[in-house]
Amino acid sequence: MFTPSQLIDQIDKHISLLPFDETPAGLYDPIRYVMQLGGKRIRPLLMLMAYNLYQDSVEEILDPAIGLEIYHNFTLLHDDLMDRAGKRRGKDTVHKVWGENTAILSGDAMLILAYRYISRVPADHLKDILDVFTCAALEVCEGQQYDMEFERRQEVSEVEYETMIRLKTAVLLAAGLRIGTLLGGGSRKDADLMYDFGIYTGIGFQLKDDLLDVYGNPEVFGKNIGGDIVCNKKTYLLIKALERSDSFQKESLQHWMNKECDPHIKIEAVTKLYNELHVRQVCEERMDELYQEAVSCLEKVEVSSERKEELRSLVKQLMDREL
Ligand code: IPE
Ligand code: IPE
Ligand code: MG
Ligand code: MG
Ligand code: MG
Repeated sequence: MFTPSQLIDQIDKHISLLPFDETPAGLYDPIRYVMQLGGKRIRPLLMLMAYNLYQDSVEEILDPAIGLEIYHNFTLLHDDLMDRAGKRRGKDTVHKVWGENTAILSGDAMLILAYRYISRVPADHLKDILDVFTCAALEVCEGQQYDMEFERRQEVSEVEYETMIRLKTAVLLAAGLRIGTLLGGGSRKDADLMYDFGIYTGIGFQLKDDLLDVYGNPEVFGKNIGGDIVCNKKTYLLIKALERSDSFQKESLQHWMNKECDPHIKIEAVTKLYNELHVRQVCEERMDELYQEAVSCLEKVEVSSERKEELRSLVKQLMDREL
């Protein structure tokens, strides 16, 4: 079996060989730029790790794994435009370097390229894999739409929030795990369990992303800190802060949410309220519960416990990550 770092090496090598030097350069340069900025490669990694539970080599599925990463990077181009984000993986975002129209069109091309690579699976699996991917890809759009709509709402329930992040983030990790399991020859039951493992992992993954958006080290995290506060994103931290606040604190949070002002002042004020209300700890407790749920799904997968160790420890690392 491979370790995650060995698999990431294979993913990165495969990405570096992609033919993104075609013309027009204005379309392909931004694609190469974003794809080669690195990133955690977590979605293809999970696909390969699931496959590796059943098969000893992973080369056969590098193309669909890379397809999933291309799709994820496409969502980032559009997401950064929608979130007005200036930094990604420590560099300027595509729309800042090349403009908004480029972020839209290079993004569109990436979605198409994603389908090209994901379709490179054995013919007897093609329909199943395309169904899994298409369903997840559409759900990501649904989640992104809720995310935008929630910016304009004063209150969002925890259930609504969890649905939104399940759609925008978790389903893609889960789809990668399902695809890896099916291609590896795992049973339908295993594929369902791996999918659920991915959902819990993905929800925890987004909670950590929300947390790092406030408390991360910008040098390591690679994105501007406080972006969610500036955009009035309904994150777990904000929802818990509203829930735990007294009437004075609540009024203050609502005041900042409805205010267009110097972003630094707003970020500082809201972060101060988060600190007073200890929402960071509340978020970490929820992440811990999700981790337990994820692992309990993984335990039921019919593969020896030993072979599942890398996945178990990867999820722990994702919860503890700094980027
Ligand atoms: C960013 O995804 C978008 C979220 C779903 C939080 P990642 O945190 O996986 O970003 P990279 O690919 O590692 O840069
Ligand atoms: C990202 O959520 C979800 C998708 C990109 C589909 P965020 O907007 O929180 O991701 P970051 O923080 O910009 O990476
Ligand atoms: Mg964003
Ligand atoms: Mg977003
Ligand atoms: Mg975020």
